[in-house]
Amino acid sequence: MEHSATPEVRVLDAAEAAVPFLLQELRAVALSSDEGAEHRPLISFATGGTFTAFFRALDAEIQEGRLDPTSFVGTHLDEYMGFEPERAGGMVHELTLRCPPLRDMIARGSFLPVPCHGAEGSLRAHEERIERAGGIKLQLLGIGRNGHVAFNEPGASFDEGFHVTALAESTRADAKSRFVPDQPPRRAVTAGLRSILGAERIILCAFGSDKAEAVATMLQGEINGTCPASALRTHKNVLVLLDPAAASNLDADKAADAIS
Ligand code: F6R
Repeated sequence: MEHSATPEVRVLDAAEAAVPFLLQELRAVALSSDEGAEHRPLISFATGGTFTAFFRALDAEIQEGRLDPTSFVGTHLDEYMGFEPERAGGMVHELTLRCPPLRDMIARGSFLPVPCHGAEGSLRAHEERIERAGGIKLQLLGIGRNGHVAFNEPGASFDEGFHVTALAESTRADAKSRFVPDQPPRRAVTAGLRSILGAERIILCAFGSDKAEAVATMLQGEINGTCPASALRTHKNVLVLLDPAAASNLDADKAADAIS
């Protein structure tokens, strides 16, 4: 497989410590946009429980005037198939619920929702929009218990752009609570690993013991599609933020290197 780069790994005292860290990274990227620059920096968010506290803090950051929402363009990784931005259970709905200023960004055209119907032309147009915006400067990522990133499930190719995918049963089970009394969707539109690896900088967060095995495989297992997150080891600018529980399956040497 391709050469293996070493992501920077930090084990934090607790998951909450990631919030100021992520805000600082986001602010730095937003401020990197020079006066008169061709593009405002594009930041791509992940959804899910891992980032709940972060989005609440981002909301406060914007509402209280510490971060100018016109200083960056936003987008995100993935959407359940057919879930328009206003539909409960969907990713954009979740983002705008937790961080309402993102709703205004959508209205202004400075947040690019993933095309939720998955038509080929719309996915290529979305990729072109990302390219025209100068590419993704900062990509936030979570990880699934099965090693998925975005909805690239085990077996995913490293060389795909935005595409429609079938969700693994463990992914559907983990999403169950957001769809009750209905069943979770079977398909989603997702950024492929090629799209993710195209970002300038990637920060993956994983918290809790449920993620420990996937984190160890991502960082210490083989680099292949069995653990899609292992693809991050082919990228030169990745930071992995863990809490002690998520780091608990790392072997001793790696864990020692990781604490910083
Ligand atoms: C969400 C996404 C998923 C999640 C992952 C972890 O946009 O792309 O890959 O990051 O399933 O989800 P949580 O954070 O709920 O554990």
